[in-house]
Amino acid sequence: MYKYKVSILGTGFIGLCSAACFSNKGIKVLASTHNEKKAKLINDGKAPFFEANLQEIMDDVKKNNSDLLQCLTDPVKAVLETDISMITQGTPMRDDKSIDLGFIESTAREIGEALKTKDKYHLIVVRSTVVPGTTRNLVGKIITEISGKEPGKDFGLCMQPEFLAEGRSIEDTLHPDRIVIGGVDKRSGDMLQEFYEYFYGDHLQNCPILRMNLESAELVKYGNNCLLSTKISYANEFANFAELVPNVDIAQVMAGVGLDYRLNSRFLNAGVGFGGSCFHKDVNAIKAWSKSKGYTSRLLEAVLGINDDQAIHIVDMAEELVGKLAGKKVTLLGLAFKPGTDDMREAASIRVVDELLKRGVTDIIGYDPKANETAEVEMGDKLKYAKSITEALNDSECTLLITEWDEFKKLTPDDFKKQMKTPNLVDGRRIYDYEKFNNALPFKAIGRVNLD
Ligand code: UDX
Repeated sequence: MYKYKVSILGTGFIGLCSAACFSNKGIKVLASTHNEKKAKLINDGKAPFFEANLQEIMDDVKKNNSDLLQCLTDPVKAVLETDISMITQGTPMRDDKSIDLGFIESTAREIGEALKTKDKYHLIVVRSTVVPGTTRNLVGKIITEISGKEPGKDFGLCMQPEFLAEGRSIEDTLHPDRIVIGGVDKRSGDMLQEFYEYFYGDHLQNCPILRMNLESAELVKYGNNCLLSTKISYANEFANFAELVPNVDIAQVMAGVGLDYRLNSRFLNAGVGFGGSCFHKDVNAIKAWSKSKGYTSRLLEAVLGINDDQAIHIVDMAEELVGKLAGKKVTLLGLAFKPGTDDMREAASIRVVDELLKRGVTDIIGYDPKANETAEVEMGDKLKYAKSITEALNDSECTLLITEWDEFKKLTPDDFKKQMKTPNLVDGRRIYDYEKFNNALPFKAIGRVNLD
């Protein structure tokens, strides 16, 4: 067993994927959650949510190292019995779109309680996404207030942003492209670096460890998510430019742009807009944070505005094809914010449904291979939920493709023609061959218009 034991405070995507991967590598992990049901599932070796390969790693741990992963409902105990504590709590968006640090604050209090009675040096690592200053001025200060201990002297304090994407959480945890370590002092950063040198071993030959201060590390995460969101809104803006000229194709344009050695082609896919648990939350959080410091971001305002407008734009495209949609039956193929997940947070489908309702469309039916149930929790009876593609298309007068699931990619123009009342199709993710579909049925696609 590795010399440092680790407590993971928070058992969401970041926390549980780390806990499972660490323990699978011979590290003793005490995870902690206040949710007793979740703790029991984890202790029974069951992943409490779906994430690719998580269950497999948990099965391996159960088979080979079952005593190395334990989940408690007592964070104070978890901290007391370990050497390193990682804070992996959520940082949701408040109603005013600023960051809600409530879970971070209460976890810092629990750590403070634990450190009050602990004499040995302990390292605290914030891995949640937090606005600059939070690790030092909130987490560090609360721990000091409660425990009477000093950061950089009695305990170590680091900030290590996490870049994992849903559906790739295990892969991203095992093979990151860099590790960013912000430290309150050298000793804190050295201890975390030593831990990762053990955990990653040879992988570090292709994965630099960057050392910096706490605030820079906090800002790296926002820099990352804001640039990715900006790339998407930039591609969407150019899709709108492309639609001003017949036969210009945004997919070809972005392929040409992305091959520049200074750029890359990832996150340049134009579409109906980004969703997910991070992009909106983080772009809004850093925007609100900078505003609170007296700086108004024009760039991020535009990134969010362009994204919101894509949902309106796809409905405009549908009306150009069909005429007024009010009174007609409309189908949404795909509801989740991206393929491979049932996550509905900030999904483009929500904005599209709201826009359809605003225009008086009441007969909306959606189908998603995985997200029907979560969509119903999110959107209730704003629409009906089909159990299959066939049911979704049946009798419909216009289909909007919202999420690029593989099963939708297999559909042919005939599938729409046979099953819909009038086979109007708008491709919101550019998954269909433009020429083929445009020649076969009334068709529109983001980022391209044909010559009439
Ligand atoms: C993202 C970041 O990728 C990850 O590093 C961070 O830690 C959390 O946020 P995630 O939200 O899981 O991860 O999904 P991602 O694959 O990044 O996609 C986000 C959204 O952008 C999806 O709605 C997707 O459809 C959209 N997207 C992505 C585009 O519209 N175009 C693209 O080219 C790429």
